[in-house]
Amino acid sequence: MFRKLIVASTLALGAAGAAHAADTCSANLEGNDAMRYNMANIDVPKSCATFTINLKHTGKMAKNVMGHNVVVAKTADMSGIDADGIKAGLAADYIKAGDARVIAHSKVVGGGESTTLSVPVAKLTAAGAPLSFFCSFPGHSALMKGTLTLK
Ligand code: CO
Repeated sequence: MFRKLIVASTLALGAAGAAHAADTCSANLEGNDAMRYNMANIDVPKSCATFTINLKHTGKMAKNVMGHNVVVAKTADMSGIDADGIKAGLAADYIKAGDARVIAHSKVVGGGESTTLSVPVAKLTAAGAPLSFFCSFPGHSALMKGTLTLK
């Protein structure tokens, strides 16, 4: 009981503290019109069954011009997924149909839109490090990428 009270107090410390609190099973990722995400790394607690990435496009440009998605994969698979995704096109969210290298991916969104991606943490554990997240819109992964760290 006493331990639970301590945890509750820690969570009440505010945004800065809460961002690093244990068992935070989601992240709020943003993409903008300058082809950038707002995060270079996302920590994923192994204690989470599912990890949710909320992607918000904070820009104004349309998805066929400056579209953003979020793809989770082994870092070694990024370039292959990206190359095949370009051929797949926007209607397929720039992901090749049935691409087994993709651990999880969201749809492509344009300015002002949001989407949510749920990632089974067991799939991340099974894939093994290093893991990455990136945008598979043509040309974006050079800048729009980051690491996913299992903690
Ligand atoms: Co993008």
